[in-house]
Amino acid sequence: MSDSDRQPAIVARPAARVAGVVRVPGDKSISHRALLLGAVATGDTTLSGFLRGEDCLATLAALRALGVAVDDDGERLTIHGVGSAGLAAASQPLDMGNSGTGLRLLAGLLAPQPFDSVLTGDASLRRRPMERIAEPLRAMGAEIATSGGCAPLTIKGGHTLHGLDYELPVPSAQIKSALLLAGLWAEGTTTIRSPGPSRDHTERMLVTMGAALERTSDRTVRLTGPTQLSAVDVDVPGDFSSAAFLIVAGLLAADQGLVIERVGINPTRTGLLDVLRAMGGHVELRGTDVVGAEPVADIYVKRSDLTATEIGGEAVALSIDELPILFIAAACAQGRTQISGAAELRHKESDRIATMVAGLRALGVQAQERPDGAVIDGSAALSGGVVESHGDHRVAMAFAIASLFARDDIVIHETAEIATSFPDFVRTTRQIGLSLESTEQAH
Ligand code: S3P
Repeated sequence: MSDSDRQPAIVARPAARVAGVVRVPGDKSISHRALLLGAVATGDTTLSGFLRGEDCLATLAALRALGVAVDDDGERLTIHGVGSAGLAAASQPLDMGNSGTGLRLLAGLLAPQPFDSVLTGDASLRRRPMERIAEPLRAMGAEIATSGGCAPLTIKGGHTLHGLDYELPVPSAQIKSALLLAGLWAEGTTTIRSPGPSRDHTERMLVTMGAALERTSDRTVRLTGPTQLSAVDVDVPGDFSSAAFLIVAGLLAADQGLVIERVGINPTRTGLLDVLRAMGGHVELRGTDVVGAEPVADIYVKRSDLTATEIGGEAVALSIDELPILFIAAACAQGRTQISGAAELRHKESDRIATMVAGLRALGVQAQERPDGAVIDGSAALSGGVVESHGDHRVAMAFAIASLFARDDIVIHETAEIATSFPDFVRTTRQIGLSLESTEQAH
């Protein structure tokens, strides 16, 4: 059997208790944005707390291939901004790995450049929809071809872009950010209207870097270009989406409480807390502070008896990456939880409705798919079983946390992608009391 026939798996043994004070790695969304915006600013950006996960490392490699010098002293990165006219053509297609954020945001940045680019990624990323960015970028004057709607994306450079008034089809921060990045070079005003909330890290960072950006209460963002950004240092907070797994772990098993320190609590990201509180979860934010453009806090959680809830509407948009761990919380709650309005989950690193429902059923949970969500009956305990993560990092981590509520071992297949967002997941969760072991799974 060759190495390519082997994939890491995780065996998650039942564990009864978690406790401690931990940190999670840096925020993935903010790390991507600091790299991309710092690269085209004038001046140097010092980046602390950068997430050294594979997704952000792919974006870093792509920027280096585009002629951006980045120093790394092992702790901090220094991005030597090349300014708005300083990027150079890459000699190869840019491989963004598993990262939808990296690919979509970089496409926005490259569409207005004077040179051609090709953007691609791994098998999962090459299945994800790209017309959602290509179409509005074309409307701004860019020349972009997709491959049947997906990556590889071929961008023909040399076009002057113009502003656009655009209504997003879904409340997506990736589409919004791709258009804002293109708008930095576009003539006139780029206006983006959104049908719902989405993370606003791009807007916050652009404002600190001097962009002419205006936000109105009806979820409209306006950016007037062309504009030149000025570098600002960025201290990246802990990733709320990584903390989410530990938050639910604490609610399931932290009799003495669990603290996750210095986590980003941007309100466009923390819908999970509202849902968990509505389910009866004990969550406290302590030591709330503001670091740069982003709020942070220590999150304290303790074991709580969870009850079922309904999750739909804005709660979905505000917890979009936390839905996999919410499926687990629902399976461990008393009563029937209904999730609706979440069809976007079918376009993530896997079809998260299908993968989560199939995994829950493998653990003896009564769960049904709906086109835009799921219905999950909570149980007194989960059985053990074998779960297919389909190479989706958040699905794999969610099922590892389920071991706190299981009677027997949960074996999770295809767990390598955990390294895209939370490289130390196994070590960190063992530190608080979970019993996880990485093994090799033969195919
Ligand atoms: C992200 C936006 C979200 C989210 C993704 C990260 C970002 O995707 O699911 O993990 O950093 O902009 P969509 O904008 O496609 O909803």
